[in-house]
Amino acid sequence: MTAMAERPAIEDLLAAAVAEHVPMSVDEVRALISVPPAADMGDYALPCFPLARALRKAPNAIAAELQTLVRLPDGIVASRAVGPYLNFSADRAGQTACILAAICRAGRLYGAAEVGAGRTVVFEYSSPNIAKHLGVHHLPGTIIGRTLCRIFERLGYTVVAVNFLGDWGTGFGKLIAAVERYGVDDVASLTVDDLQGLYVRYSREAEEDPALTEAARAAALRLERGEKRAVHCWETFRAVSLAEFEHAYERLGVAFDRYTPESEYRGRMAETLRSMQEAGVAVESEGALIVRFDAEEMPPLLVRTGDGRSLYATRDIPAAIDRWETYRFDRSVYVVGNEQSLYLNQVRAALRRMGHEWADRVVHVNFGLIKFLDAETGQARKGSTRRGELLLLEEVLDEAVARARVKIAQNADRFEEGADLDALAEQVGIGAVLFRQMSVRRTRDVVFDWDRMLDFEGDTGPYVQYAHARLCSILRKAGGEVPEQVDFGLLCMPEEWTLVRHLERFPRTILRAAREYEPSVIATHLLELCADFSSYYSAGMKEPDRRVLCEDERVRAARLKLVDAVRHVIRSGLELLGIAVPERM
Ligand code: ARG
Repeated sequence: MTAMAERPAIEDLLAAAVAEHVPMSVDEVRALISVPPAADMGDYALPCFPLARALRKAPNAIAAELQTLVRLPDGIVASRAVGPYLNFSADRAGQTACILAAICRAGRLYGAAEVGAGRTVVFEYSSPNIAKHLGVHHLPGTIIGRTLCRIFERLGYTVVAVNFLGDWGTGFGKLIAAVERYGVDDVASLTVDDLQGLYVRYSREAEEDPALTEAARAAALRLERGEKRAVHCWETFRAVSLAEFEHAYERLGVAFDRYTPESEYRGRMAETLRSMQEAGVAVESEGALIVRFDAEEMPPLLVRTGDGRSLYATRDIPAAIDRWETYRFDRSVYVVGNEQSLYLNQVRAALRRMGHEWADRVVHVNFGLIKFLDAETGQARKGSTRRGELLLLEEVLDEAVARARVKIAQNADRFEEGADLDALAEQVGIGAVLFRQMSVRRTRDVVFDWDRMLDFEGDTGPYVQYAHARLCSILRKAGGEVPEQVDFGLLCMPEEWTLVRHLERFPRTILRAAREYEPSVIATHLLELCADFSSYYSAGMKEPDRRVLCEDERVRAARLKLVDAVRHVIRSGLELLGIAVPERM
């Protein structure tokens, strides 16, 4: 399978062959190579206009000349100049055999590679604050982060998934004081809902009575000093929150190798501030400690307040250093929303200023917001209920599953006998959410429109899941076993070649998704592959000879191999996106 992923693409071989005869680099030539508009024109086209100026010749003449000069690489059988284009024809049968054999060998691991071998990438994602519910705004980072981990693992990287739980700050003093004031006996029985309620109630009362603010401050101090009761309370808040988070994580197929909560770095704050000050990175300003970024044209970063309190950055900086010391990473990736771009740039710049050369390996993978289409107004609204309350992540999942259940019931006739409709509702509902989020380029805002997301005929997760189940059903109808030896030369429909070319690109799609930290590249590939398969399949509906399960046994065997390969790739792609892959629907 490794050999497959690293087998050079035909386009690369062609580009190298052409570059020997023109004043352009292989990469420049590679960028020019495209697909001719009609299949009978060949499989690859080199437009010669961009060469005219450098070669001082007409494009038509260049094409004609290159036809005689360029040595055809393996996999290419002919070249032909057509006007200003030089077209190349592939050895379709040979290519098809080679690609399909590789896919059937590698199965769902097709596209796996070793490019990352020996290199570690740390991914931090999700990182919610404790004592609050997971909101819908936690969804993008949580699933994009997990998906990137799977993509990098597939490419051979050593991946470390980190959750930087927000569990430190003065707010927890208020909660401890609330527990004491309202006489909560059994802290462990509190839910996250209770914690949010206590916080709100206490804050409201504190507005009237300054003594409460004082008590909260005192409790925060006790926590910081490690007083037993305060620490016990706070630890319980964290455990209760974590249990709730993990429930949602499990439904989303999300996990972490390590929780490194903010509090883990509280012991390193003083030392960090001291070293920043000694190195002249942090300076006093009206009693506070700040890092200035005049040259970088960024506002200063506050690392200690005037009254001596630590901040978010005071923990982020030692946490970044700890990741370096522990993992010696090739890259340290922060999957965090667009709104923290400036902040993370400041943290990285501060690290660089402190002399940490690896600061350049710190990458911010940002993402946009989720919005919901309001069916009544037709407007996209931020993730809140109509009353303006935060929409919870699990409420969104529940709604997706409930709607999937209705959709499945309405279409009961199109589902196979033996399909488990309850399990399907969970798989389809959550699959729809995951796919919707990851089919949009991550930096953009995503609008959730339930009807569209669950449409079995749209550009959706359920559509891809359904396509996969249909492929499984074709294979089942054929009797399960896909024959070992087949004659790939019999796959000569243009639709078949289109599919093969698409499958051939899949390993490069994974590489590109990693290079751009962009799961949507994979989602798009899957949609295109499903659409191509659908055209192929419907071609067979009209003409029996073109049917997958056709009369001719040898042709049928070759077509089944193709179906099997398409199935492997769809499954592999869905698995990378963390989406369930039911075999019956
Ligand atoms: N806990 C933060 C929040 O909820 C997100 C943490 C992002 N990661 C980081 N290393 N600063 O906003």
